[in-house]
Amino acid sequence: MTFFKSFTLSLALLGSGTLALADGGGNLPSLHPKMEQECSACHIAFRPNFLPTSSWKQVMDSLDQHYGADASLAPADQKEITDWIIATSKEHGEAPPENRITKSFWFTRKHGTNHVKADVWQRAAVKSKTNCQACHADAARGDFNEHKIRIPR
Ligand code: HEC
Ligand code: HEC
Repeated sequence: MTFFKSFTLSLALLGSGTLALADGGGNLPSLHPKMEQECSACHIAFRPNFLPTSSWKQVMDSLDQHYGADASLAPADQKEITDWIIATSKEHGEAPPENRITKSFWFTRKHGTNHVKADVWQRAAVKSKTNCQACHADAARGDFNEHKIRIPR
């Protein structure tokens, strides 16, 4: 019961984000400039609404061991970004395994085989599910509008 409630809530949150995109993209959610800068070196800087606050805290507390990479920051930068994410994200949905957006229930549902054929993930232009911009061209700007999705060949 709580599971479905929180799932509906997380979709509602995502939905409101994408609804705003429908009016010309003028209302894209903004990112903290420091996060934009520090978290976009290896992948796009992910939007706070893609993970629950508790998952973000764990990500920000373990940047030195970050999915096999060292993404550690100067303490002041780490604190500034962490404070901003905590204030901007919400404790919605189930915390996904490994704090992975790509293992969130909403993500697996939106990117299941009915939406993305299994072999697409292996294509050279995609390779990883975290490579959002392979299909969502303006992902780095926070634009995930479903009408702009292009699956690379
Ligand atoms: C030195 C490179 C590097 C930097 C800098 C970096 N990351 Fe990552 N991050 C990675 C790698 C590698 C992965 C795993 C990618 C994969 O599995 O395809 C990852 C994955 C993630 C994931 C999980 C994505 C998923 O759903 O699988 C999150 C969340 C994340 N990073 C957040 C951040 C945040 C926040 C910052 C800035 C504080 C940051 N990253 C900076 C390398 C980096
Ligand atoms: C291989 C292509 C591909 C990749 C890579 C990909 N997506 Fe998607 N995404 C899709 C498709 C296709 C849909 C459309 C599902 C539908 O029609 O409802 C979608 C839907 C979405 C939606 C819902 C949009 C809406 O308006 O309903 C969000 C949000 C989203 N993706 C976020 C992400 C994030 C974040 C990443 C990276 C961590 C990512 N996607 C990676 C193909 C991809």
